Amino acid sequence: MLVSAKEMLTKAKAGKYAVGQFNINNLEWTKAALLTAQECNSPIILGVSEGAGKYMTGFKTVASMVKAMIEELNITVPVALHLDHGTYDGCYKCIEAGFSSIMFDGSHYPIEENIEKTKELVKVCEEKGMSLEAEVGSIGGEEDGVIGKGECADPNECKMISDLGVTMLAAGIGNIHGKYPENWEGLSFETLDAIQQLTGDMPLVLHGGTGIPADMIKKAISLGVAKINVNTECQLAFAEATRKYIEEGKDLSGKGFDPRKLLNPGFEAIKATIKEKMELFGSIGKA
Ligand code: 13P
Repeated sequence: MLVSAKEMLTKAKAGKYAVGQFNINNLEWTKAALLTAQECNSPIILGVSEGAGKYMTGFKTVASMVKAMIEELNITVPVALHLDHGTYDGCYKCIEAGFSSIMFDGSHYPIEENIEKTKELVKVCEEKGMSLEAEVGSIGGEEDGVIGKGECADPNECKMISDLGVTMLAAGIGNIHGKYPENWEGLSFETLDAIQQLTGDMPLVLHGGTGIPADMIKKAISLGVAKINVNTECQLAFAEATRKYIEEGKDLSGKGFDPRKLLNPGFEAIKATIKEKMELFGSIGKA
């Protein structure tokens, strides 16, 4: 059964650890994430971007696959299925498809419109027992080959959005999706501290979990971050393991071309990456 992310994040914030959101792209990814969570006795949030949702033929397919896999694999740790960076329309599609959590990324709307749409979604999510993530201050990343600098959120805007009744809040603190540039200035802990002081118990979310040094992750958790998103690192691990397998020529000999064999090194690499992140975030044994 899927659960909302509310309880796991409230516990994480109080216990000073973070629950990982690991984005899924296909069946192997999903299986790797669920099995690792179970082996580590850790809660987990499966993130689905709109693009990944489309790739997997739609949010209904994703929700059905995840629910069935939880049952068939006897997964007993808390699992939330979460829309990552959702558009307004995407949020409604996932609500209908049976997700247990959504992120409404209204950061590109003027603050008034972000507030209005967020309020509406707070109401719907409350009725359905779902969790809702909001974003303030855009999170940087690569666009057309240029890596944008992560923007810092205005703590007062964070307080305004937090007071609307969202479950968790993603605030830009200089973090970037994907690889960090050489001259990255690091996370702005002053911003994070100011946000946490104004938003109290609200679990804060750190996007761009790939490539943030371990000491910064730990400091962010100590300042109220209770959910950390990881995507690129699993993709890199999967690609590297697959490349190595193909270069070694195993796919050409015997039955090595069998997709169940071909995709296995990547599957194991995702599992190892997720386990490493769960250790760093402190969520092992917290289910
Ligand atoms: P990375 O791809 O940098 O790990 O970021 C993932 C993320 O924040 C998804 O929302």
